[in-house]
Amino acid sequence: PMIRIRFISADGTRETIVEAAAGTRLLDVAQAHGQPLEGTCEGAMACSTCHVHLVGGDTDRLPPPSEEEEDMLDFAAGANRHSRLACQVKLTADIASLDVKMPRGVVDNSR
Ligand code: FES
Repeated sequence: PMIRIRFISADGTRETIVEAAAGTRLLDVAQAHGQPLEGTCEGAMACSTCHVHLVGGDTDRLPPPSEEEEDMLDFAAGANRHSRLACQVKLTADIASLDVKMPRGVVDNSR
């Protein structure tokens, strides 16, 4: 089953809707679709440049963040109760959709 991911820009004006396969990491899906997440440490929970806000969809079906992830989120700019590290969010078959908002304060160096 494919998972419908809606990426929302930090200012809320742009949306990108994509489909992702179960078993993929949210960070990989975001990067494959041009979202401004650097993911500098490639999932080692050492950078927080993959910080996103999960604002809708089946967020309550995701396993909660580990203590390590919570600690790293404490340092992320603009973190709130919706915050997750996209490198730690694994898309599973029981998730049908997720709404993912880019945080403010992320510098997109790609354009
Ligand atoms: Fe560095 Fe997620 S890629 S914490």
